[in-house]
Amino acid sequence: MGDGRFRVFAGSAAPALSTALAKALDAPLGRFELRRFPDGEAQAEVTESLAGLDAVLVQSFTAPAAERLLELLLLAEGCRRASAARVLAVTPYMAYARQDRAAREGQAVGGPLFAALVSSGRFDRLVAADLHAEAGEGWFTVPLTQVSAIDLLATAVRPFLPRDAVAVSPDLGGAKRADRFARALGLPLAIVHKTRQDGRSVVVHRVLGDVRGRPIVLVDDMIATGGTIEAAVGALREAGCAANVCVATTHAVLAEDAVRKLANCGLSRLFCTDSVPVPASLPFEVTVASLTPLLAAALGR
Ligand code: R5P
Repeated sequence: MGDGRFRVFAGSAAPALSTALAKALDAPLGRFELRRFPDGEAQAEVTESLAGLDAVLVQSFTAPAAERLLELLLLAEGCRRASAARVLAVTPYMAYARQDRAAREGQAVGGPLFAALVSSGRFDRLVAADLHAEAGEGWFTVPLTQVSAIDLLATAVRPFLPRDAVAVSPDLGGAKRADRFARALGLPLAIVHKTRQDGRSVVVHRVLGDVRGRPIVLVDDMIATGGTIEAAVGALREAGCAANVCVATTHAVLAEDAVRKLANCGLSRLFCTDSVPVPASLPFEVTVASLTPLLAAALGR
């Protein structure tokens, strides 16, 4: 891969992932400046010629996602003006993807709108990981490669897997993802049936499958407030699961008091990827599996 055709540009929310990806691609980090005008407006300037090179822009849509997006778009524009042969975006965590339908009349559907804004960067390719729902692929009008971290997470979990463990999806929507994880590790699958009340609270209706006396590995695409995991663990404990609970997730967004909620759940270990930066110190064990090899392979194809 180190044929010198890439320059990797580190978005403000993805410094570590950008460095890792640059190393994997055997490419230098691209030179640019991001300035703020006194009124708060951002300006990006690529300070080297990219003639004949492919610019790889790495960004994570952590809060504030709209600012991160604008930065990415400004950078894409700068790369094009610096004569990049192709402009590629690596945005493993796609924010707003959960907004895929209107719950009420008048409620905006943010997912396709955010995807349209990302697509306005006219990227030659966009690489994302585990979109909230596969159907979200259709929202983008630029070529999208979606990588899945499920096998990566299964590999990370394997050495820690307790005997008799059950893989659990914390909701019906994630059942397919959890099933893939369960099959990779030869585990039985259980599903928690939940409904979401609002952005912070969820209600669990029942647990489908037998978890009595068994350690649990919860599998989810993302943890935002931790409310889903908290509610699922509560229901699983009521259903008699063993004390050992761990969670495998692609995007550990960990908003608000998610860390406290996870710690209160008695989580033994969190398995996640580096799609978003993970805090250096957490009150439970953490294994971070890097997406870098998958992302580098997606770019090299
Ligand atoms: C929901 O459908 C998703 O797959 C996640 O379970 C959910 O978005 C996690 O959010 P929170 O941690 O805020 O419950």
